[in-house]
Amino acid sequence: MTAQVFYAGEPDEWPVYEEELAAAFQRVGVEAALRNAVGDAADIDYIVYAPSSPIQDFSPFTSLKAVLSLWAGVEAFRGNKSLTRPLARMVETGMIEGMVEWVLGHVMRYHLGLDAHICGQDGVWRNDVTPPLARQRVVGVLGLGALGLAVARRLRDVGFQVGGWSRSAKTEPGIECFTGRNGLKDLLGQSEILVLLVPNTAETENLLNAGTLALMPKGARIINPGRGPLIEDAALLAALDTGQIGHATLDVFRTEPLPLDHAYWAHPKVTATPHIASATRVFTACETIAENVRRGEAGEALLHLVDREQGY
Ligand SMILES: NC(=O)c1ccc[n+]([C@@H]2O[C@H](COP(=O)([O-])OP(=O)(O)OC[C@H]3O[C@@H](n4cnc5c(N)ncnc54)[C@H](OP(=O)(O)O)[C@@H]3O)[C@@H](O)[C@H]2O)c1
Repeated sequence: MTAQVFYAGEPDEWPVYEEELAAAFQRVGVEAALRNAVGDAADIDYIVYAPSSPIQDFSPFTSLKAVLSLWAGVEAFRGNKSLTRPLARMVETGMIEGMVEWVLGHVMRYHLGLDAHICGQDGVWRNDVTPPLARQRVVGVLGLGALGLAVARRLRDVGFQVGGWSRSAKTEPGIECFTGRNGLKDLLGQSEILVLLVPNTAETENLLNAGTLALMPKGARIINPGRGPLIEDAALLAALDTGQIGHATLDVFRTEPLPLDHAYWAHPKVTATPHIASATRVFTACETIAENVRRGEAGEALLHLVDREQGY
């Protein structure tokens, strides 16, 4: 049987997805017919989906086997009541590599104090600060999933003392793993640099608030490529103003694009980036999609299924 696959991603990316998906289906040995117009919704088996798509009602897709998201975060549509079929989020090696590189760059900026020289080309010979070595610095990573674990491993391999926090208990060589509220407190208490890579769920909203920020070492730095609602903005701004938090690099916000009048844009201790920490890379994303269609057609469990109850 030929699997009917409907591409409901960004229209301008259709030509490249059309080509790369066809090649990826061939590589995994799946017979698939690919289209970017709904046509007869009742014969569609899989939807390759971006939440920005005009398709918001899944009820006409009566034979649907799964929705395969092009995005890693699924909070925009996990609550869609018309979506009753399995939902897989995007996990792909290109996005993981991109995130590892982005986080590593920003961690190294803080670790080495690069701003002092990059931003200080003013004739002052600032040779008075020798940074500690990576092995003398603790970096905390909240979230040890597809992205957080890869980030934590790379930071460990660079030499940092790395602690990671997740919902379920984990064991990972060279990474101290924490769970639960007490584990979070322990990890925050040591983290001079903190990376947020947990999803946005009811449990993680405002994870960083006045209370948790106060647990961190004075002057700690925060890097948030996770989601905006993980941080209570007013509490972070207050902590930056008192010096409790030394600086924050924020890639994600409650409202995106970040409104022009938002305090983050003008704050001297904030670097705001426009949700670019890592993107879905077409070639590697097509590998993930093709493998999931192959699995679906073979009656095997799909990869990266969203747990609707947990919300990620
Ligand atoms: N800025 C960007 O460009 C960009 C790009 C891609 C993704 N993202 C963001 O990155 C997030 C993480 O992606 P991912 O692929 O790594 O997700 P993932 O594989 O689902 O991993 C999520 C991690 O968070 C942990 N977690 C979830 N709820 C928790 C809780 N209540 N307490 C403690 N730990 C909790 C999970 O614990 P368990 O391991 O126990 O399940 C897991 O380790 C996405 O949700 C998205 O928001 C941002």
